[in-house]
Order: sequence, then C-alpha cells, then structure tokens
Amino acid sequence: MKVTIIGAGNVGTSCASLLAQKNIVKKIVLLDIREKLSEGKSLDISQMLPIIRSNTQVIGSNNDYSKTKNSEIIIITCGIPRKPGMSRDDLLNHNAKIINFVTKKSIFFSPKAKIIIVSNPLDIMAYVSYLTAKIDSSRIIGMAGILDTSRYRFFLSKELNCSHTDIQTVLLGGHGDTMIPLYRYTTISGIPLMEFLSKEKNQKIIEKTKKGGEQIVNLLGISAWMAPSASVLEMVESILHNSKKILSCSVFLNGEYNLYNLYLGVPIILGKNGVEKILELKLNIEEMNLLKESANYVKNMIKKLHNFNF
Ligand code: LAC
Repeated sequence: MKVTIIGAGNVGTSCASLLAQKNIVKKIVLLDIREKLSEGKSLDISQMLPIIRSNTQVIGSNNDYSKTKNSEIIIITCGIPRKPGMSRDDLLNHNAKIINFVTKKSIFFSPKAKIIIVSNPLDIMAYVSYLTAKIDSSRIIGMAGILDTSRYRFFLSKELNCSHTDIQTVLLGGHGDTMIPLYRYTTISGIPLMEFLSKEKNQKIIEKTKKGGEQIVNLLGISAWMAPSASVLEMVESILHNSKKILSCSVFLNGEYNLYNLYLGVPIILGKNGVEKILELKLNIEEMNLLKESANYVKNMIKKLHNFNF
C-alpha cells in the first residue's frame, strides 16, 4: 500500500507524519519541487518511526514522479498562498496551473489512484484536478468539510461546555465564507443541537467557524496545517480501510441538489472506491438558498479560470 503526498510544506509534511505514525501503509512518498526539502522532511519523519514502532517507509522525492508509481492515494497539498499585491484571480490561476501539472504527472504514474485535493481555493482546485485527470469523479475528492466541521464542533463544545467528541454534524457548500454548517443536522450524542443552543447563538458559532482558518493565518502569518492534515488522515483511513464513513467532502455534482458541473461540499460515503455515494439531504428553503448562494460563488470562481489545456 503506497500513498503519495505532493508538496512538502506544512500540510504535506504533517500529513506524512500523521499517516506514518498510524503504521497503516507500507510506503509514503513525499514529493516537492524544492531541492532537498522532501528528502530532509522524510528523513526526519523516518527517524521518529523506530521510537513509535511504525514500519512505514517514508521517502522524499525531488520532483521525480516515477517514485510515486502505483500509489493507491495521491494527496495534493501544493500551491502558493496569496501574497501582497496579488489578486484572487492571480492566486486562482497560479494554483490552477500547479494543480493541472501535478495531477497530470501523478495520474500518469498511478492511473488507478484516488486523489485527495487540499490546495486552495479548494473547490476550484478539485474541479481543475478532475478536468485534468480525466478519471471518474468518484476518485477525486476535496478535503474541506471535515476540517470545517471539526472547527464547528470545537467552537460548539467551548460554548456548551460539552465534549467535542459527542458532537456530530454535517456541512454543505464551499470551503470559505459561504460554508454551511447545518444546525438542523447537528446533534450532541443524538440529542438535537437546538435543544441546547438557540439559532441566534448558533449563528455566532457559524461565523466563528467561517473565520476559523483566517484566525490562524492572523495568529501565525501562515495557514493552518495540523487540523487540515488530521482531516486528510480521516479520509485516507476511510478509503484504505473501506470504512464507508459519512464525511463532508468537496465532490463533483452532476444533478445532486440540482447542481451541475462543479465541486462543492456535501456529505458522502467514503470507501475504497472513493466516493461510494453522495447523500442528498432533504433541505428546507433556507438551507437550499444558502447552498445555491455557495454554488454561485464557486461557479463564479470557475468562470475566472483561464483556459488550460485540460
Ligand atoms: C484552512 C485552510 C487550510 O481552512 O484552508 O485552514
């Protein structure tokens, strides 16, 4: 069992480290275009493994995709963050170029792989990877909902002084300001959230959740990596163990929720084939309108993509 991680930045390295600690795969390949980086990072992770008794082999690759051959899962974390003076368009198209390139290279060497996209803007990068790879959309999945629901659960547990592990929830929409944590579908050990928290107070928690990523950027000057990589691990485990977990992920919609030709966050069943099923919830008008708004936002971003040689 082999897993490739493209990008040895904070998220990629942290994914490699968490996955290696689990001792569930034979080999992890950590690939980066920056010379020496992936080699150094993978050596450091490897030298931790005798202590924690993991037999996973972690190797670095300086842009040599042949080392990624026949991976079961490819995790794409590379791309640049927005810098001063850059418009959203610049970032969008810059990262789209990178995702286009790395998807082509990765799928060539691992034609049967499932691809997990982590790079931002998440929903659009997942779509770019899908257009590039020309494989079934069930095998290309964006990571965002697990992270956003985890943040929502964390903030809820603080507000309610309860255990975050007892909180179950579902999230719809894009990874950004239009995300939709679902109040009606949130429970604490099976008891509906609305029995503990008013809709108004919940709205404040939702706003905090939406700003969760930004809060960390403001504190650290760089985006989060621990919670994002733990979210990736949840997906990897569900695929490798065929656990068929219900998780909120960004997937290709082709009529589900009456939405077409875009990637957006919805609950799915995640198993050995990737997306085993997209779950269509019976939304009320308010939830449906929020979903439409989020879909429109993502669609507008897609329109801003320059033409690539997909
Ligand atoms: C975040 C980035 C990883 O939400 O998208 O922290």
